[in-house]
Order: sequence, then structure tokens, then C-alpha cells
Amino acid sequence: MAELSTRHLLGIKGLTAQDIELIFETADRFKDVLNQPQIRKVPSLRDLTIANIFFENSTRTRLSFELAEKRLSADVVNFAASSSSVSKGETLIDTVNNILAMKVDMVVMRHPYAGAATFLSKHVKAQIVNAGDGAHEHPTQALLDAFSIREKYGDVAGKKVVIVGDILHSRVALSNILCLKQLGAEVMVCGPTTLIPKYIGALGVQVEHNLIKALNWCDVANMLRIQLERQDIKYFPSLREYTMLYGLNKDILDSLDKEITVMHPGPINRGVEITSDVADSKQSIILDQVENGVAIRMAVLYLLAGQTP
Ligand code: CP
Repeated sequence: MAELSTRHLLGIKGLTAQDIELIFETADRFKDVLNQPQIRKVPSLRDLTIANIFFENSTRTRLSFELAEKRLSADVVNFAASSSSVSKGETLIDTVNNILAMKVDMVVMRHPYAGAATFLSKHVKAQIVNAGDGAHEHPTQALLDAFSIREKYGDVAGKKVVIVGDILHSRVALSNILCLKQLGAEVMVCGPTTLIPKYIGALGVQVEHNLIKALNWCDVANMLRIQLERQDIKYFPSLREYTMLYGLNKDILDSLDKEITVMHPGPINRGVEITSDVADSKQSIILDQVENGVAIRMAVLYLLAGQTP
């Protein structure tokens, strides 16, 4: 059986293009399983126990991982930091080692600090899957995004993808850039100067501050949420002004030179980065992204579980 080149999924940075293709081919098979009319489950991870430990809020990622684990027949335990002994001062390593003492094999973790998943992988025995670490990486989101582009167009190579919005605070942006570049896409970022990191050119992406120019260039626009919870200072005068300059509405979409595909990782702030008529339009594949998330996460967990220690 083909194997991933890594024992943990800490970021797209640790994956090769072959790893990503293997994840996609495996996800194709799991998508067929999920689309079966009756038994949408396989026994592949029957002997495995997986802990989902979330130190930060999540709807899509947490539910998607839990569904993926259950569809693979793994035993699942869920841990939310807000209702745990973390509030009594327990360290991350102690918390996870206590969970592992209960014979857990794999840990899926979301954490507000960049590097938390990598740190944990060096200090505990279990395999670690990064479900988002601060403003650093969100590898399964990037994989499901690229998989959705591949599903729509047949291939990612050569496609022009613009990522719009709060690039500075976005783990989705960094993981998407790394993943799309690995697969041969052309990538552009678009947003106010204050929300585009200065180092971004080193990642091989184009920068455009004019939304209409960016949208006329691309095949796919991935519209990001403004991450107000990560903004310690004001990066633009008001949300209203941001929306005027960088919000995507139906009039703009209909005025473009060609029909583009609209993506969003969620959660959406309707009326800020994207209007409802765009989010719900036939050009939007937002719910396809969510659907594909389960198959991608099944593929990641299945392939990691196949690793010899
Ligand atoms: N896209 C994403 O990570 O959403 P959640 O924060 O709801 O998991």
C-alpha cells in the first residue's frame, strides 16, 4: 500500500505533491462510500481510538473530523478546553498525556497558538493531526479546498486562484497557498495592504489590491472572513469600508469577463466579505467544500493510521 511521507499531519509544509495526490485518490474512494445510499461506513479504523481536542471554537472542522472517524469505525472521544481542567492550570502536555493514558492512538487538535501541533508531536507518542493552529496552518481545510477545485475543473494545475481578504491572520490562506502551489496552480492574494504580509512574495504568489482586477484574473475566488478575534489593532477604518472595497456581491460577480467559482472556508460573515446571493449562487461551491471535508479527513486519518511506528 502507498504511504504518506509523514507520521503526523502538522501542516501542508510537511507534505509532498505525491502525498497530496495520494490523499485525493483515497478521498475519491471514500467519497464513493459516503455517497452510497445505505451503508456509508467502512471498518478500516475499527481498532483505533481518536481524541478530538479543541482549545478553540469550531463547527465544521470538529464535526467533520468526528464524522470521518465514525465513518471509519474508530472509537471517538471529544474534548473541549472550555469545559476541562485546562482552566485549572493544567499544561498542554499534561492534558494530552492524561488523555493518552486512557489508550488513545491519535490526537486531532485545534489550538490558538501557532506551532502547538508541532510542539505536541515532539512531546507525546500519539500521531497528531493539526486541525488549525493559530494563524499558522489549517492543512485539512487546504486539502479539501484543493480537492473541491480538482472536482470542479478536473485538475488544480494551471488554475488561477485568488485568495481575498485577511491574509495576515489566516491559517487557511497559508495552507491554501502551499497546497495550491504544490499542485501547480497560479495563486494571487488580494486585500488591503495592512492585511497582506510583507513576506508573501517569497511564497511565489502575486499580490493585487484591486478586487475587480483580481476577480477578472482568476478562475476561482476564495473569500476569507475578517478574523477580528486575531486583530489586536485596527487594520482598516471600518467593516463597512472593507465591504465596499473587498466584499463580493452579485453585481460584481455578474459584471466579470468570465464565470468564476466562489469558495469560502466558513464561517461566513454574510454581508461583509460575501453577500447572501453570492454565497447561495450556482457559482458557489461552499457546501461542496464542507461535504468534501469528510472524505478528505477520512483519507488523512486512514493513511496516517497505516503508518508503521
Ligand atoms: N473552516 C473552519 O475551520 O471552520 P470551523 O472554524 O467552524 O471549524
